[in-house]
Amino acid sequence: MLQSALRHGLIGLLLITPALAAPTAEQRGRTFARVNCARCHAIDRVSKSPLEIAPPLRTLHRRYPIDSLGEALAEGIYTGHADMPVFELSPDQIHDLLSYLKTLE
Ligand code: HEC
Repeated sequence: MLQSALRHGLIGLLLITPALAAPTAEQRGRTFARVNCARCHAIDRVSKSPLEIAPPLRTLHRRYPIDSLGEALAEGIYTGHADMPVFELSPDQIHDLLSYLKTLE
């Protein structure tokens, strides 16, 4: 009895662990946005940006088709704008961020 319960517990754990160890691109992108962008930009579907002149990230796809946003984002972030610090994103980070942005459309 106990042994079988333990074995089930173990198998359950083995099934869950990879999901915990490997967050999806969307989750990584969300974390990235929360850490790096959220103090100025709204990063969810509903709230206002903490910094009023910073567009909520969910509205970016209206200015840029989401698939070309990667480039725009890299450039925008490299050149920086008045109030926004310069970010250097790796292609992986851009991929993650865009995956997250797509979930907001
Ligand atoms: C310190 C505040 C601040 C932070 C942090 C910040 N931004 Fe911004 N961002 C702004 C402001 C202010 C604007 C709008 C001003 C402008 O368009 O020049 C803006 C505009 C943008 C735009 C639109 C640019 C355009 O040309 O239309 C993008 C894309 C953007 N931010 C992405 C990001 C991303 C991605 C992050 C996180 C990695 C981030 N920002 C972090 C302040 C910030």
